[in-house]
Order: sequence, then structure tokens, then C-alpha cells
Amino acid sequence: MSINFKKSYKFAIKSSFYISLFATGLVGILLYLFYEINYSFIGLFGLTTLSFSFFVLQYRVEKFIYKRVKKIYDDVSLLDSTTLRSQPITTDMATLTREVQKFATDKKIEIETLKIREEYRREFLGNVSHELKTPLFTVQGYLSTLLDGAMKDKTLLKKYLQRAEKGVERLIYIVKDLDMITKLETGDLNLEVSEFNIIEVVQNVFDLLEMKADEKNILLMFDRKHPKPVLVRGDYEKIEQVLINLIMNSIKYGKQNGSTEVSVEDLVNNKVIVRVTDNGEGIQKHHIPRLFERFFRVDKSGARSEGGSGLGLSIVKHIIEAHDERIYVDSKYGYGSEFSFTLEKAS
Ligand SMILES: Nc1ncnc2c1ncn2[C@@H]1O[C@H](COP(=O)(O)OP(=O)(O)O)[C@@H](O)[C@H]1O
Ligand SMILES: [Mg+2]
Repeated sequence: MSINFKKSYKFAIKSSFYISLFATGLVGILLYLFYEINYSFIGLFGLTTLSFSFFVLQYRVEKFIYKRVKKIYDDVSLLDSTTLRSQPITTDMATLTREVQKFATDKKIEIETLKIREEYRREFLGNVSHELKTPLFTVQGYLSTLLDGAMKDKTLLKKYLQRAEKGVERLIYIVKDLDMITKLETGDLNLEVSEFNIIEVVQNVFDLLEMKADEKNILLMFDRKHPKPVLVRGDYEKIEQVLINLIMNSIKYGKQNGSTEVSVEDLVNNKVIVRVTDNGEGIQKHHIPRLFERFFRVDKSGARSEGGSGLGLSIVKHIIEAHDERIYVDSKYGYGSEFSFTLEKAS
């Protein structure tokens, strides 16, 4: 393997200068004491010593340092072959020190990132098993009660089976969210960008969630009529998911007989902004910064009865950011909340 070798002559030049200065001086003094001074002889002697010692020193230094430095390079590059190999090997210690330092810093950063990731993985696993445990135990509870004899009672049989089914539904719901968030976080989810009418998507989501809204007598509506389509660019299914999550939240955390209003407006720079506004329970200010975190729920027990996984908003944030767009939240505790996001207009 041939390694690029950058030479440095400073050491040999200086050293040979000192050696020849000393030798020439000594020869001069000896001549003066025992013979007679011959300047051209002394000059010639000086020059010869200088060049001879220079060549010897340079050669030896190169060999010596090259051997050792190469070993250091080899040891270091055993750990990481890409970073150092591209640089020429140098007899200049400063460069080597700098490179080894840089290598160490890079490694330190890498180790820190790995530690953070490990922490994150552990926390994620902990959260996942915690989320799955509750519905699993519910289902198991109802099923074993039935097996223990409750199944003989026709009304109990139906009631408990229905509850068990609800538990399974919730499990599926959580697993789907987990699947989605894992794909989003590992970057496996490629956007399938197309042009579509955002008004139509909102209307579809209204239709989809109408039954859920009716349970609380919540009205799903646009702020005004949109006779003309509003064409945007994005991943149709993902944007639909965003709207489902936001409108679902507005129903879940909305109040009885309330309303959810969606508005689509032009924004500067060829963007539209979609707002989902409810007049529900609202969110306290200190909770807002954590809202988009995985598994974050304001009221853990209350939200659980509503069947959320706490992943909805982090999925929303991932999708919007994958589109290079922004998501905003504005809320007044006790009065309602507004979630809004931007989208690129189709030209
Ligand atoms: N429209 C809203 N009004 C009030 N609180 C909300 C609203 N949307 C979200 N939240 C709060 O943010 C939390 C996180 O929401 P989300 O990520 O969708 O999880 P989930 O709905 O599964 O609980 C919710 O538990 C709720 O406390
Ligand atoms: Mg939600």
C-alpha cells in the first residue's frame, strides 16, 4: 500500500546547521592553535559537513518518524479507515497531533450520539410496553371472567365480549400508531407527492369522523364555503392522516355541543395555511412545549378513557416536517385550541 508522504525539512536543516557550526568552529580553533588558518578550507569543510549531516539526518528522520508515525496512523485508522487515510502522512508532528485530536473529538461526538440514541431507545421501549399493558390486561380480564363462568349469563357474555373487543381495537390503534411513528422516525417513509384539492380531503375527514363527532354533538364545519378547489402539493394520505389526527383531537378534547372549524387560507410565498380550531377544553401554557413529544398526554388517566396513544401529535409533526412545512399551536385553557400547518400551493 503506498501512502502519501509529505516531507518536512525543518528539523534536518536546523540540526545539520548546529552540527556543522560546531564542527567547523572546532576545526577552525584546532587549525589556529596547531597550524595556520585557511579560510577556504574551513568554508569547504563547513559546507561539506552541512550537506552531509543534512542528508543523513533527513534520511534517518524520515525513516524513523515514518515508521512510528505510520504505526500511529495504522492504529488509529484501524478504528476508522475513512477519516485519516485520505490525508497524506506527514513527518510534521503538529499536523499529526491535530489529526489525532480531531479523530478523538469525532469519536467523542459519535459516542455521545450513540448514548443519546440508546437512552431514547430504552425510553421508547418502556413507553411502548407500558402503553400495551393496560389494554392487554383489560382484554385478559374480561376473557378470564367469561371463562370462569360469566359466559353462562347471556347479557354478561355480550357485554364482556364487547369490552374485550374495545380493548383489542385499542391495541390495534396503538400498534398502528407505533408502526407509523417508527417508519417516520427511521426515515423509511417516502413521501408520494401529488397535487390534490385540500378542501376535498378535509370534507372526507369530516365524513369519516362524523359519527364520532355526533356522539358529543360536535359540529364539524368549514369557516366559509369553498366553491373552488384549493390545489396543494404533498403526500395525499399523510396529509389526510394529519387532518384525521387533528380533527379527532378536536373532538376528543372538545366539549359537548361544541364545534370544530377548519379554515384554508392563502399565505405569502405560495403557501396555504390550514387551521383546525375547536372550542374545547384548551391546553395550559406550560404543557404546550411538550405537546408534540411521543406519548405525551396532558391528562394521562382522562385521555386513556378516550383511547389515545399520545402519539397522534408527534405523528402530525413528523409528517409536516417531512414536507418541509411548519405546524403551530395556539390555545387558551378553558376556551379552546387552534392547530395550524402550512402547505405548498400547487402552481
Ligand atoms: N384540540 C385539543 N384540545 C385540547 N388538548 C389537546 C388537543 N389536541 C391535543 N391535546 C392534548 O395533547 C395531548 C397529545 O395529543 P396526541 O398526541 O394526539 O395524543 P392522544 O390524542 O393520543 O392523547 C392530548 O393527550 C391532549 O392532552
Ligand atoms: Mg390524538
